[in-house]
Amino acid sequence: MSEKTVTEAIASLKRERDAVILAHNYQRSEVQDIADFAGDSLELARKARENDARVVVFCGVHFMAETAALLSPEKIVLIPDENAGCPMADMADAPAVLAMKKEPPGAVVICYVNSTAAVKAVSDACCTSSNAAKIVARVPGDREIIFVPDRFLGAQVMKITGREMHLWPGYCPVHNKLSVDMISREKELHPGAVVMVHPECVEAVCDAADQVLSTGGMCSFAAASDATEFIVGTEPGLLHRLRKENPSRSFIPVFDEAVCPDMKLCTLEKIRDAIDRLSPRIVVEESTAKRAAVSVMRMFEDGPITPVEDQHE
Ligand code: 13P
Ligand code: SF4
Repeated sequence: MSEKTVTEAIASLKRERDAVILAHNYQRSEVQDIADFAGDSLELARKARENDARVVVFCGVHFMAETAALLSPEKIVLIPDENAGCPMADMADAPAVLAMKKEPPGAVVICYVNSTAAVKAVSDACCTSSNAAKIVARVPGDREIIFVPDRFLGAQVMKITGREMHLWPGYCPVHNKLSVDMISREKELHPGAVVMVHPECVEAVCDAADQVLSTGGMCSFAAASDATEFIVGTEPGLLHRLRKENPSRSFIPVFDEAVCPDMKLCTLEKIRDAIDRLSPRIVVEESTAKRAAVSVMRMFEDGPITPVEDQHE
């Protein structure tokens, strides 16, 4: 079947099933192109919550689709390939986070959205790479903070907020491949370029950059910037959107082999089949989903963040 035929089949199934397609910025170009919305984790979490389609097809990795399911338990949330996981999300497990939460007592657990529903369910608030510093700044100054699972995003947040945090030792194996030498090489070739990197990169790479931004943040920054050349330190899938939205600017990847294999598992054929069969579907156990949703919803609210359990005592 040609790509055009598959795309047409998806469009007609979408109407039949009342489905919306959300795609993360690292998805294959052709998947981003047929999506109703492409964005970063925060933008996609918002879209999943706000739209009123009956079916959400989440083209991303498991924790993203799971977050959509937590926020909209009444919707059918599909993930076109259920093997699309996130190794960083799997680095933190709920019992160990709970044990860490007891020592120091009264600490607030902030979990990066790249985490399982079970970890979100023992956390006090969730954050993404675009709002992490704002969320941490809402924790009262006398509270200790535990940040899971990304130690590099955690380190950036400590720098921005000036808050000390206990960091879980997780990391992204894809962003871990980016080095300062790679940035230096590209800077020599493109001396006028602005260097933007994702906060999942190691600290030295973030230090070598002009801007440390989420994938959505990079898109907004590039669109508003006077610069015409950008060196981009993240998964190369984002280059498609950057180039599409900014045809007169040029974007150079720091390392074009830093591909997230999980993000590439989703294909047009799998999207078509998922909508057709309404499977694979993401279902989160009810009590875990309810408690995890409290952590996720706190991202969209205002006010101080204290331990969730304190509020029920
Ligand atoms: P963003 O929220 O910046 O898109 O990041 C998600 C992610 O998984 C980065 O590896
Ligand atoms: Fe997870 Fe890294 Fe892939 Fe993002 S790029 S989904 S953090 S493995």
